[in-house]
Amino acid sequence: MKPLIELVRQLEFSREEIAFLLGRREKAEVEVLRKAAEELCFAYVGNKVHFRGLVEFSNICVCDCHYCGIRKSNSEITRFFLTLDEVMQAAHWCSEQGYGSLVLQSGERRDEAFIEFVENAVRRIRAETRTAKQPDGLGITLCVGEQTRETYARFRAAGAHRYLLRIESSSPRLFRQLHPATQSLEHRLQCLQWLRETGFQVGTGVMIGIPGQTLEDLADDILFFRSLDVDMIGMGPYIVHKQTPMAAYEAEMASRGGEVYQLALNMIAVTRLVLRNVNIAATTALQAMKPTGREEGLTYGANVMMPQLTPTEFRKDYQLYEGKPCLDENRDQCRMCLQNRITGVGRVIGLHEWGDSRHARDRQD
Ligand code: 5AD
Repeated sequence: MKPLIELVRQLEFSREEIAFLLGRREKAEVEVLRKAAEELCFAYVGNKVHFRGLVEFSNICVCDCHYCGIRKSNSEITRFFLTLDEVMQAAHWCSEQGYGSLVLQSGERRDEAFIEFVENAVRRIRAETRTAKQPDGLGITLCVGEQTRETYARFRAAGAHRYLLRIESSSPRLFRQLHPATQSLEHRLQCLQWLRETGFQVGTGVMIGIPGQTLEDLADDILFFRSLDVDMIGMGPYIVHKQTPMAAYEAEMASRGGEVYQLALNMIAVTRLVLRNVNIAATTALQAMKPTGREEGLTYGANVMMPQLTPTEFRKDYQLYEGKPCLDENRDQCRMCLQNRITGVGRVIGLHEWGDSRHARDRQD
C-alpha cells in the first residue's frame, strides 16, 4: 500500500485502497483524509452548502424494513399524512428563506391516491414558489421509494427533477439481512435505472455500520455509486430503533458508537475522493450520534444539508431511528441553528438556487 498522503491524491482507487482509507482511525491519519476530502470538495463543487428543506409528509408505509422505525409493523406510532395545504405552507416558508430546493419524503405507498397527491404537490410547489430571484420556483427532490416506471415518469412530468433512492447496501447478503423477502436488490437497481431513464438526477446511498458490514462491503458501495454514475449521495450511520426487529443489536451498536460515527465521516470523505463532483449530504443521522455531526460532515467533504421543515407536531412520529434531533424545534429555530453551524465551519449557504451537482451539470452538457 502506498503512503496515505499519496493515496488521497490519486485519481483511481482499487477496492483494497478504498477499504484501507475507510478504516483509518488514528487521529493524524484521519486528519490527512479529512483535509484531502475538504480540499477536493472546494475544488470540485465549491464552498457553498446547499439547503434542501425536508418535508416528511407521511409516515404511512407498506414496507417492513427490519431497521426502520416507521415500518408497517410498528403499531406504536401514530400514522399521519399532511394535507396539501400543510405541504404548501412548508414550501412557501422554504422559498421565503431563500432555500432553493425542497425534498418531499415519506413512507412508501404505491396507490393512485398517493401518486396523485405527490403529483399535485409537485405541480403546486413549482407553480406557486416562483419569485424574482427564483423564476423557476423551488427545485424538488422526491424520496418516496420504489415506484413503477410510469409513476416515475409522472413525477418527472409534474416537475420534480431529482430523486433519492438509497440502495441501503449494495451487498446482496446485507440487503437480504435488512429487508423482508418481498424486497430485492435487483428491483431497487431496476428502479434506479428507471429513474435515470425518466430524466431524473439520481441519488442513492447506504447505511453505515450495519451489523456484519465490513470495510470491503463499504468499498463496494462506493464503487457501486461510481458504476451507477450517480449525481447525489445521502448516507449516514445505522442507528438502532427499539420498535424494530433489529432492536436485538442495541447493546452491540451502543458499544460501537464512536467507531460507527468515524466510519460514517470516513465514508463521506472517501466518497468525495473517488466521485469528486457529486453532491453529498451531511445527514441528520450524523447529528443523532453527535450534536456537531452535521457540520463535521461538511468538513469531511459534504456540501448539502437538509433542514427540517416538517411541522413540529409530526416530527416525533417520523423517527426512522432513535435520538433524532430537533424534534421539539420549529422551522425558524432550525434555520438559525443551521446558519450558525455552517458559518462556524467556514462555509457559506447557497441561497436562491437549485444547487444541482456539478456532476449532473457536466453530464447534461
Ligand atoms: N438508522 C439509520 N438510517 C435509517 N434509515 C431508516 N432507518 C434507519 C435507521 N434505523 C434511513 C434509510 C432510508 C432513509 C430515508 O433513512 O437509509 O433510506
